[in-house]
Amino acid sequence: MGTDDYELDHIMLTQDVISKRISELAASISEEYRGEELIFTGVLKGAVIFMSDLVRSLDLSVDARMDFIAVSSYGNASTSSGAVKMIKDMDTYIADKHVILVEDIMDTGLTLSYLREMLMARGPETLRTCVLLEKPDRKKVDSILDYRGFTIPDEFVVGYGLDYAGKWRNLPDIWCVTKH
Ligand code: IMP
Repeated sequence: MGTDDYELDHIMLTQDVISKRISELAASISEEYRGEELIFTGVLKGAVIFMSDLVRSLDLSVDARMDFIAVSSYGNASTSSGAVKMIKDMDTYIADKHVILVEDIMDTGLTLSYLREMLMARGPETLRTCVLLEKPDRKKVDSILDYRGFTIPDEFVVGYGLDYAGKWRNLPDIWCVTKH
């Protein structure tokens, strides 16, 4: 499916609103991990922009590290197949470390729950999850979120790291798309 059949419709979350919420999330994380080493593990590619803003909003007393993993996503379709495959593992050894798994959006939750189980098996001291957006209507797993930016309705969104077929990740605001 090409991208020509989808177009930007309206802004759901402005960059201002996103940035204020990220400051709040960063404040909570800073409070809880003051003086600790904390490994932020972003799920490529969608979490890159969110995670880069999040870590820059942290209190300097947090010893933040960054790493990334990649899994197979929806490809070019906008509905979940439920299949999750690891494409790139992280480089950091996380046994006995504090880890926060960072994802752009939780839709069915299958991706996050798979990755969480996989990282848990490596014996981190603590493992928490942080997503910018959650679509609760589509959730298929038990609640596994520790930090959540926004709860949104079941609409397909792009921008601020989120894409449709690789497009629109660079938009500073989060938009709803429509089919025409
Ligand atoms: P889940 O496994 O169903 O929770 O899917 C999570 C992944 O689906 C996200 O990391 C995104 O790559 C993709 N996804 C789900 N909903 C959207 C959306 O509205 N816009 C862009 N990507 C989405």
